[in-house]
Amino acid sequence: MEKAARPIGIFDSGIGGLTVLKEIVDTLPIEGTIYLGDTARVPYGTRSAETVTRYSFENTRFLFSKKIKMLVVACNTVSSVSLEAIRQSVDIPVIGVIEPGARAAVSATRTGRIGVIGTSATIRSGAYATAIRALSPPVEVFGLPCPLFVPLVEEGWTEGPVVEMTAERYLAEMKTRGIDTLVLGCTHYPLLKGVLSKVMGESVRLIDSAIETAREMRAVLGDLSLLRSAPGAVRREFYVTDSPEKFLDVGERFLGRTIEHIEKIILESEV
Ligand code: DGL
Repeated sequence: MEKAARPIGIFDSGIGGLTVLKEIVDTLPIEGTIYLGDTARVPYGTRSAETVTRYSFENTRFLFSKKIKMLVVACNTVSSVSLEAIRQSVDIPVIGVIEPGARAAVSATRTGRIGVIGTSATIRSGAYATAIRALSPPVEVFGLPCPLFVPLVEEGWTEGPVVEMTAERYLAEMKTRGIDTLVLGCTHYPLLKGVLSKVMGESVRLIDSAIETAREMRAVLGDLSLLRSAPGAVRREFYVTDSPEKFLDVGERFLGRTIEHIEKIILESEV
């Protein structure tokens, strides 16, 4: 198959990466996509870097075997701790969500004070702070893990008093930092935008890495002459490692479209 006609592979620890897929579909509607959600092993955000990297290699190998032309690591946790290792393991472009999010945050801030929220693993890795400082050394970065946001979103709770109270409690300290930009450094957080913006106030700009990642993909595919040009049927496949029912239910709401081809798979482990 001609290289440009091949699909793009996307993986996440579970369902959250669909926020990235949605932006990819909106930005590059004629590109085929193969999405893998490791739903049997989610969450990654509470695990060690070593475990996250092992899972990531298994996900990468599965998608690579599908003859993809580009790999998108939609998961912030994986992008934070394993991106370089993944890049070295394959000979196709690999895009993570940290650098695009960091770039958008740096161009958005006026005060030079940026907050980053994410899973415990993402914040512990310091990946956003490193990427932001590499772009603009004087910027001050304040990281904060918000682990309860993931299960709330997984449950479909994206608004209402429980979510608001949780956000108020987590972000109380962040509100004292004088930030003007807050990076939503986790796949699930864009679904909480309404609540987060209410809690942080209108003066704080929320950065959604998913939008920036889709823009970067388009640029990279264009530079490499890998954008699909032929119209026609678009391949859209979904794979999960646990039963597909919940993924289908929540996923179709996330995406705002029907998921047709979905399959449960068993990933091959390295050992
Ligand atoms: N996909 C993860 C992330 O963006 C959130 C869910 C998890 O902890 O696996 O960090």
